[in-house]
Amino acid sequence: MSIQTVSALLSLLLILGLAALFLRVRRLAHEGRDYAPVQGDAYRIRTIGFWVLLLVGLPVSVWLFRETPYTRAAQAAAAQVINATGHQWYWELDRNEVVAGEPVEFRVTSADANHGFGIYDTGGKLVAQTQAMPGYVNRLVHVFGTPGTYRVLCLEYCGLVHHDMIAEIVVTGRGNDG
Ligand code: CUA
Repeated sequence: MSIQTVSALLSLLLILGLAALFLRVRRLAHEGRDYAPVQGDAYRIRTIGFWVLLLVGLPVSVWLFRETPYTRAAQAAAAQVINATGHQWYWELDRNEVVAGEPVEFRVTSADANHGFGIYDTGGKLVAQTQAMPGYVNRLVHVFGTPGTYRVLCLEYCGLVHHDMIAEIVVTGRGNDG
């Protein structure tokens, strides 16, 4: 099962859970209840929530930030640079061939509207992405693990021909000239 499928199923589960909760609240809203016991329960739930956030949420947040900024180390080493500009509706790359196993720095911007710069491997899996914004250059460093023809697709709806913003990046083996 791919991570996308897991995410989708998990989202569906949470949506159904939330919907069930709303339906329950709606049903209970018709019943009269004493205020005091309800208030006691609410305070208890609030206290539990606070400690769960503190003891679970905080460590998880700190752990998730362990590698930020993600690109610092790789950026310094990136000898391969691709300047990418999004246009309605095509990608302009100043170079479309790089070597696998070495960092590639993408400098991504846009000439008009906001676009999403998404790089997909030969199997159609998203491997890296950043935003293409007018007046701003986003730097994205990626190391292509396997040679092949990768595709750049637009990840943000940008008008009529959004779906057709496709470019190719050819990744060759290490030390291979062509
Ligand atoms: Cu560019 Cu969607």
